[in-house]
Amino acid sequence: MSAPAPTYVPAASDVEAAARYGADAARRAADAVRDRLGVRAPACAIVLGSGLGALADDVADARRVPYAEVPGFPETTVVGHAGSLVAGTLAGREVLLLAGRFHLYEGHPAALAAFPARVVHALGAPVLLLSNAAGGVRRTFAPGDLMVISDHLNLTGRNPLVGPQQPGDQRFPDLTAAYDPGLRRQLREAAAATGQAVQEGVYAGLLGPTYETPAEVRMLERLGADAVGMSTVPEAIVARAVGMRVAGVSCITNPAAGIAHEALDHAEVLEVGRQAAGRFRALVTAFVGKLE
Ligand code: HPA
Repeated sequence: MSAPAPTYVPAASDVEAAARYGADAARRAADAVRDRLGVRAPACAIVLGSGLGALADDVADARRVPYAEVPGFPETTVVGHAGSLVAGTLAGREVLLLAGRFHLYEGHPAALAAFPARVVHALGAPVLLLSNAAGGVRRTFAPGDLMVISDHLNLTGRNPLVGPQQPGDQRFPDLTAAYDPGLRRQLREAAAATGQAVQEGVYAGLLGPTYETPAEVRMLERLGADAVGMSTVPEAIVARAVGMRVAGVSCITNPAAGIAHEALDHAEVLEVGRQAAGRFRALVTAFVGKLE
């Protein structure tokens, strides 16, 4: 008996990944899901971070396609990430939800980690809202706090734009205001409208999959990070390169290593994410309602 054919063979290099997960592939993926999900003119696409997937339950008239059926998407492997693309309406606006993401620490190239951003761009979404679970580096942060991302530190050692320039991409994107100031204001207004405090700060994206050492967290503090996680940066970079407006929200699930002198645990990260999910859902729904 012959072994089953592998369904997913990792790209051998950044250059190969850039070609495999570039503009053409995004167009093919978008073509495959557009009719199937009935996507017309989405106001926003939203990437749901660890433990924050419940927002998908709030979407009216939801249509779903499993990631395994989106051309170019491998199946997700991380607990807490369902792996489906959902279209529907939230606060009366058409939205696309990406429930599940492709992390660098799974061995995926940065171009694949960012590929969903290309696909929702090809589906016509002008805005990308990225969410994630993150450790709190700023000492005043408490588990369950929501942080509007004002900027990021790309400490992954990777960049999804390495390789041949994709048609429609900027070669040297300006990241001065990567997290759109107007959208950040809308997130703060949405927080006020839903009666919740929201923090704002810098997200440091690391490769993972280890949590940081206390020395690394002290380093991150000195570098100007307020939160630390293992995602978001690749998608934000590609979204800016293709001209989308980007916003981000971190759910602070734990004090980063060494700050509270407690061991970190993925189950706890998911649980705090779930506890904060109600406030996250309210914040995002109010934010979407403010979009044009
Ligand atoms: N570090 C990195 N990623 C994370 C953390 C953390 O402390 N918490 C949730 N995701």
